[in-house]
Amino acid sequence: MEDVLNATGRSARYLRCGNFMENFLWQVEPILQQGRFFYPFPGDFPIPMVATHNIGVVAAQWLLQQDWSGQEGIGVDEPEDLSLNQVAVQMSEAINQTVRFQPVSPEAYTESMLQHGASPAYAPGLLDMFAEVAAGIYHAEAGCKLGKLVTSYKGYAFTAMHKTSQIIRILAISGSLRRVSSNTALLQAAIALAPATVEIKLYDGLGSLPHFNPDLEPTEPLSVTDLRTQIRWADGLLISTPEYAHGVPGVLKNALDWLVSGSEFIGKPIALLNASPRATYAQSSLTEIVTVMTGRIVLEASITVPLLGRNIDIDGIVADLELSQALQRAVMTFVDAIYQFQTEAAFSDEPLR
Ligand SMILES: Cc1cc2nc3c(=O)[nH]c(=O)nc-3n(C[C@H](O)[C@H](O)[C@H](O)COP(=O)(O)O)c2cc1C
Repeated sequence: MEDVLNATGRSARYLRCGNFMENFLWQVEPILQQGRFFYPFPGDFPIPMVATHNIGVVAAQWLLQQDWSGQEGIGVDEPEDLSLNQVAVQMSEAINQTVRFQPVSPEAYTESMLQHGASPAYAPGLLDMFAEVAAGIYHAEAGCKLGKLVTSYKGYAFTAMHKTSQIIRILAISGSLRRVSSNTALLQAAIALAPATVEIKLYDGLGSLPHFNPDLEPTEPLSVTDLRTQIRWADGLLISTPEYAHGVPGVLKNALDWLVSGSEFIGKPIALLNASPRATYAQSSLTEIVTVMTGRIVLEASITVPLLGRNIDIDGIVADLELSQALQRAVMTFVDAIYQFQTEAAFSDEPLR
């Protein structure tokens, strides 16, 4: 392919990439359920690896170099080659569960590929590729390795498998203590509509928190400790509040005041729901408060749902297609943002250089 393109005489750079880390993804089920993955390959043979997002990064950098001309091929690999046994160790650390690599025969592997929908032409092609890797043909030429990309398999596996394996936990807080509160109903509908991979819990301690008083902090009441524990438990907060006299209800502000000096709220992803299109002052005030407390508001997940004056309960919200779809979309947008934040945190100690 490179020869054909070079024959045109045009400038071209070829990315010669190592084994895509994503290649392991089709085995995510046995990895999570049996703690194993399989290849017709020796476990201790180091293979050049690359996370595909790094290929994009390299390609983008080169495309931006407008003064370059010529023809060349460059290897795009992570700095360290990894054997499949090493991949298993990094996967285990990433998902906190023992994962082992198990070599299998080419026949058993082909059979499994065909069962998973690979075409009869594709499976042998992949076996040929394994043979080339084992023969060292697949290695990028010496001196061509970039050696600057840094995605450990641990970091990669976190991104890829976290989504499949981990339940995202959300604490829902209603700013209304009213028994038939529309804001509480909205949050309860979100609980009812959440998929199995998302656990939303309604915080019910707002009314029993004492008035905030910094003097009480050193020996704080149990109800405050419980609030902190629940905030720490949560990967994100879903807050829905009424507006009282153009402001945030005192009970909600009181709870937030207790959290100002603690560590559990820091950097917490937050989605703000609003059950009344009229209540704009409370929303902007709450935005300001949680932002100054370093909460990370996910705007795309912060929606206004027109419940005011409709006298609608949880079942009514769930049954209303428009409302329930908007709510579901907001929850899933929030969950995606939480994954994104967690992924960034997992990679944060290994920035691209
Ligand atoms: C004391 C009080 C003050 C209120 N002030 C406002 C206000 O300033 N702006 C507004 O849009 N609605 C105001 N409302 C209306 C509530 O925000 C509205 O009824 C809301 O839907 C109540 O939420 P809930 O059903 O979750 O209790 C006020 C209600 C009360 C009881």
